[in-house]
Amino acid sequence: MNPSRSATARAHPNIAFIKYWGNADDHLRLPANPSLSMNLDGLYTETTVTWRDDLDTDQLTLNGQSDTGAACRRVSAHLDALRERLGIRGFATVQSANNFPMGTGIASSAASFAALTLAATSAAGLTLSERELSTLARLGSGSAARSIPGGYVEWHVGQTHEESFAESIAQPEYWALVDVIAVVSGQHKKVGSQEGHRTAATSDLQAARVTGAAGRLATCKAAILERNFATFAEVVEHDSNLMHAVMMTSRPPLFYWLPATLAIMEQVRQWRQDGLSVCYTLDAGPNVHCICVKQDAEQVRQGLAALSGVQEVRVAGVGGPAQRVNN
Ligand code: PMV
Repeated sequence: MNPSRSATARAHPNIAFIKYWGNADDHLRLPANPSLSMNLDGLYTETTVTWRDDLDTDQLTLNGQSDTGAACRRVSAHLDALRERLGIRGFATVQSANNFPMGTGIASSAASFAALTLAATSAAGLTLSERELSTLARLGSGSAARSIPGGYVEWHVGQTHEESFAESIAQPEYWALVDVIAVVSGQHKKVGSQEGHRTAATSDLQAARVTGAAGRLATCKAAILERNFATFAEVVEHDSNLMHAVMMTSRPPLFYWLPATLAIMEQVRQWRQDGLSVCYTLDAGPNVHCICVKQDAEQVRQGLAALSGVQEVRVAGVGGPAQRVNN
């Protein structure tokens, strides 16, 4: 084995403040609307890719176990895209592990495909720009485009593959927000986001959500750059509610909320009225991401841990970019 054909990379998941839901082009994963997120520090996927000439198929080891099912096919399809676009030869062994649970609304696919893209291209001896890496990661999972750059990240819609990429709008230290995640279910979600993106357009509300997205993004971006929590909280909760309204009114409908989810959302609003700088946002799952300022994070963590239905609380600050790890 040629050691220069192996590389390891780490990437953080991200939580979207302005959501990506639905594609303008499913094949290229060109999104219906622009989105904005923050990377989650402390949570990561670490992936090692080794390109080999002696294999006749790609091989995946996921969290220590060999996988030949759907996850392996999706990884292999992404490697096909990289092989085709970058002229990489051979098949690969891929070892990937997360330090957080998969399929529960903490976006494991974003971190996975960002780490896979960086490791696979590095292992092939390529040094790509952040923009190129972001466009390529997007082909594996849309939100993975946002896990390549660091800190607070905006994903531009774009009309072509090359134009649809994400970039930082502020570095992690610009504003010390914290995501305090209330885990209400550790079960793997029944309907994944890939399927959800395809049904989004069946909701009568999707067109209205998409039309307003650029305006909400501008409001959210300005609030981050001004460190204005009140404006930030309002637009983030509104955007999350809009996405879930689309999900619930799609055909067939998608209900990700559990009773505990709604109770936490109400509690978070009450805490904000009582003076804490905290708001909620939810991805395609029942767990509630409570975004707050650093000074209030411990109080929010304790408050969430005391609520019935909360199985676990995870705390993540703002994370940096996807990075290579020496191996
Ligand atoms: O990248 P995907 O296909 O897993 O889509 C992510 C969709 C949401 O997490 C629900 C929203 C977002 O913008 O991250």
